[in-house]
Amino acid sequence: MRAYRGHLFHIGGAPRLAQASEHLVSVPDGALIVDADGVIVFSGAHAAVPDELSHVDVVDCRPGFLLPGFVDTHIHYPQTFCTDSYGGGQLLDWLQRCIFPAEAKLADPQYARRVAQAFCAGRISAGTTAALVFGSAFPDAQDALYEESMRAGLRTVSGRAIQTVGPESATPLLTDEHAAITLTEAEITRWHGADTGDPATSLLHVAVVPRFALSVTRQTLGALGELYSSARDAGVYFHTHLSENVHEVAAVHEVHGVQHYLDTYEGLLGPRSVLAHAVHCTDHELARMAETGTSIAHCPTSQQFLGSGTMPWRRTTASGVNVALGSDVGAGDEWLLARVLNDCYKVHISEPAGLSIPPADLLFTGTLAGARALDLEDRIGNLDVGKEADFLVIDPQRQLLLPELLEQIDVEDADRLLFALLLGMREAAIAEVYVRGRRVSPG
Ligand code: GUN
Ligand code: ZN
Repeated sequence: MRAYRGHLFHIGGAPRLAQASEHLVSVPDGALIVDADGVIVFSGAHAAVPDELSHVDVVDCRPGFLLPGFVDTHIHYPQTFCTDSYGGGQLLDWLQRCIFPAEAKLADPQYARRVAQAFCAGRISAGTTAALVFGSAFPDAQDALYEESMRAGLRTVSGRAIQTVGPESATPLLTDEHAAITLTEAEITRWHGADTGDPATSLLHVAVVPRFALSVTRQTLGALGELYSSARDAGVYFHTHLSENVHEVAAVHEVHGVQHYLDTYEGLLGPRSVLAHAVHCTDHELARMAETGTSIAHCPTSQQFLGSGTMPWRRTTASGVNVALGSDVGAGDEWLLARVLNDCYKVHISEPAGLSIPPADLLFTGTLAGARALDLEDRIGNLDVGKEADFLVIDPQRQLLLPELLEQIDVEDADRLLFALLLGMREAAIAEVYVRGRRVSPG
């Protein structure tokens, strides 16, 4: 059992986005007490720690902050070294010219192992304690990812990226439909809940991951739907891309003969289904995602890099669909979700009906909404008692100018302080990272 003393910031309870500000918890002299199983047993003012817990060893993090770990609901492991790829242009050209050739290199298991190690290190340095990870085409590379994630102690949902059709440069990544199904089934058998033997307590989970509608045929999507309906009850996830780029959307309509892009994923939607981007959705698609409990992984940094457009924030969130956050590394070139939230703020204040997203909504989107998207809200997403302790110690002193920026703000002005912290912090300020009470950062 251990106590951590610092300024607590989190979104308490289980609000929807619209109520996030009312649920913002800010405790300037706070304490978080974590038991030997990594579960939070006290969260609140240090002065209110009950007598029976007052003997617990204290890690004094003051003048630092304690935040929930970030939940990245869309990040590509095989693109660890693809950020800022030159010469790609927009989505379909970038995939063909930069990404498919780079992902083909993970056919070499030794290279894949190095990428998996770097990927986990990148996540830890960015405080991404939980992530939905778009996987590699190659089963050995997926094994490396799960093994390195387990060694690091990170929380990971992933799945082999399925492609059965594509341009010339995608050839090394393609399989036929039969192999696509059997490899995904094998990955579920081997890795879903593998660390504890029970998905309900596990840090490792598996998803069914067709790359996007243009990477598979209608028939293969049907076969994946059958596979998913047999695996859904075991807590398996579904993850893919949706409506990111206008040329992609047009091609999907033409190739699949559907009225709505989302129709291609019918049978694969639900509370553990997460669709990345959703920039160009119709009201019908948003309503269908909301009614099925499907979540969106919003990736504003990536959308800027690929010129994909701007997900309409008000219309999308007003539809009732849960909107979580994704770095989308490597189209996104920021691992740190606080940086992605910074882009989120800037992009949406620049919309025609510009909105200053409140700081609590930003924190919600990068933490609790992500836990909800991963159907892990009962376990993670905030610092409430009973949750597993995935949290970050932020030490402003580690980042030039950050202490001065924060010190001029009244500590009781929670909105202003959280805004400056979230938008101003960089990786350097992340001193310690914990998953289920266990420190995963070096030191
Ligand atoms: N759509 C299909 N594949 C990809 C990918 O790797 N990155 C992004 N951003 N969009 C995609
Ligand atoms: Zn992506």
